[in-house]
Amino acid sequence: MEIAFIGHGYVGLVTAAVFAGLGNTVWVVGHTKEKIENLKKGITPFFEPGLAEMVSHNLKAERLKFTLDYQDATTSSKIIFICVGTPPQENGEADLSSVRQAAAELGRNLKKYAVIVTKSTVPVGTNREVEKIIKKFIAKGVKFDIASCPEFLREGSAISDTLHPDRIVIGADSSQARDLLLDLHKSINGERVVTSIETAEMIKYANNALLSTKISFANAMSFICDAVHADVEIVLKAVGMDNRLGRAFLYPGVGYGGSCFPKDVKALIAIAKKHKYNFKLLQAVNEINKEAKDKFIGKVSDELSPLKGKVLAVWGLSFKPNTDDMREAPSTYILEKLQKMGALIQAYDPEAMPNASRILPKIKYCDNPIQTAGKADAILVLTEWNEFKQIDLRKIRKVTRGNLFFDGRNIYDPEKVRMAGFIYKGIGR
Ligand SMILES: NC(=O)c1ccc[n+]([C@@H]2O[C@H](COP(=O)([O-])OP(=O)(O)OC[C@H]3O[C@@H](n4cnc5c(N)ncnc54)[C@H](O)[C@@H]3O)[C@@H](O)[C@H]2O)c1
Repeated sequence: MEIAFIGHGYVGLVTAAVFAGLGNTVWVVGHTKEKIENLKKGITPFFEPGLAEMVSHNLKAERLKFTLDYQDATTSSKIIFICVGTPPQENGEADLSSVRQAAAELGRNLKKYAVIVTKSTVPVGTNREVEKIIKKFIAKGVKFDIASCPEFLREGSAISDTLHPDRIVIGADSSQARDLLLDLHKSINGERVVTSIETAEMIKYANNALLSTKISFANAMSFICDAVHADVEIVLKAVGMDNRLGRAFLYPGVGYGGSCFPKDVKALIAIAKKHKYNFKLLQAVNEINKEAKDKFIGKVSDELSPLKGKVLAVWGLSFKPNTDDMREAPSTYILEKLQKMGALIQAYDPEAMPNASRILPKIKYCDNPIQTAGKADAILVLTEWNEFKQIDLRKIRKVTRGNLFFDGRNIYDPEKVRMAGFIYKGIGR
């Protein structure tokens, strides 16, 4: 099938590459000349495991085509996915300006029937607005349908998630749109949820809101466990053994981040408010997430006070492992605060340092974890990259000045850290 994607971010580019890999002819429309020229050469704008190889392979096979021109992408495409960003505004609502712009361009350029599918995470009612915008600009007599296909891929495992999703949600009114989408996805396994457009739009917010709720619950439990000297890891492990619950996303840490959870929680609070419901549960989820970061900062400053002139070695900057994405990464908030208190930061991240250096310019960036630890008063682990789990901590202790070890992701066995000569400070244990 010939299909198109508007936007080449984590969602657009990954999904486009996967569908090209499955044998479709796939257009990707961008709006930045430099990025499109790079993509034509196989240079991807961000790090995602396996993506650069997949893009190069499909470029060579001429199944993946990059363009700035909507006309190229709309001439023969049967399905066109809108995958542009929907970042949060000051009031928490999703900024839909890119979605509206893409809809207008599609309206202006569509010359024959296509299904316009929104993959971006958008509030209920947005697809209906997309339909109105397209109708305003489309040439007389050209037919189209709209559909909602929210995306659930996770950065870091995005290709595998797209090829092996838990479910594929298709929200559509028209049977033609629904059948085309079912046909496109036929070689991908996973449950199908075929429903109304409004329900599909809501599924995505409900999903991210509940995942965020689990994380904030784990964090709130860690605060209490710290106070009563219980071990939150064992508490949540035992809780997770309950078949009705499971352990997924019940891990405490320094808070959730990234481009989705914080924004989607705030957007759902805003959607509820518009419909006169005060979503108190999600407000608490949001507040506990900030508390997780503040409590970690408090732990570090309590132990090292005064922080002025203290050297902190930071392992991990990205909001989670296997990505270079720094959007709303807890490290940003935590390190800015610690710097304001006078701490000197030296940091290492396997992938995120180029992005981090734009947000956190006053940090000394290092080549590896051991160099980062040199003469440090404390180690702070902020992202659970596998690389950090394998480190010989005895070697690390030989180069540090102090002996404090703050495990912000509970990835180490406290006893092993102590055996290496450190004082272990985890989350809720
Ligand atoms: N990142 C994730 O893990 C993830 C997962 C599921 C859903 N989502 C949702 O998918 C959407 C996209 O997320 P993302 O992470 O891919 O964002 P992103 O910021 O990585 O990418 C957005 C892309 O849209 C492009 N764009 C913006 N306006 C455009 C226009 N008018 N024409 C053409 N291109 C335009 C940008 O250049 C960029 O390539 C968001 O709504 C997000 O909430 C993201």
